[in-house]
Amino acid sequence: MKPILPSLGLALILSSTSMPVAADSKPEITVYKDPNCGCCIDWANHMEDNGFRVKSIDTQRLNHIKADSGLTPALASCHTAFVDGYVIEGHVPADDVKRLLAESPDTLGLAVPGMPIGSPGMEMGDRRDPYQVLMFNDRGQTRVFSEHN
Ligand code: CU
Ligand code: CU
Repeated sequence: MKPILPSLGLALILSSTSMPVAADSKPEITVYKDPNCGCCIDWANHMEDNGFRVKSIDTQRLNHIKADSGLTPALASCHTAFVDGYVIEGHVPADDVKRLLAESPDTLGLAVPGMPIGSPGMEMGDRRDPYQVLMFNDRGQTRVFSEHN
C-alpha cells in the first residue's frame, strides 16, 4: 500500500488557518501620524492586533507625505501608512490590507477618506457609518475596493 496517510496529514496541516504566524513573517507597516491624534494610535493597535508589525512615526509634515504619495485632498484622512510599496490612507480595516497584499493589484494603495465612525480606530459605541475603501491611481482616479455597512 502507498503511504497515503503522511501526505494527507501534511495537507491537513497546510490547510489549517489557525497556526500562529512567526513574528518575523508579519508584514511591516509604517504609519506616519500627527503626535496629537488618538485615533491614529487606535488604528495602529488594530493593525497590530491583526498580525501586522507597526512602525509608528510622528510628523508635522503629513500634508507633504500625502501629496508625495499621490493622495488627493479628497482622499485624505488623519494618518498615512506604507506597506509593501502600497499607500494605506486612513482607517482602512486590516482585512482589506491583507486582501490587498494577497491580490497585489496595480494600484497606488487604499484610502478611507475622512474618518467614518465605526471604522477601525473610530469606534463610538454602536454607531456605524457606512464607508467605502477606495483604490486610487496617480491620476486621482478611484475604484471601490470594498464596502462596509
Ligand atoms: Cu483618524
Ligand atoms: Cu489617524
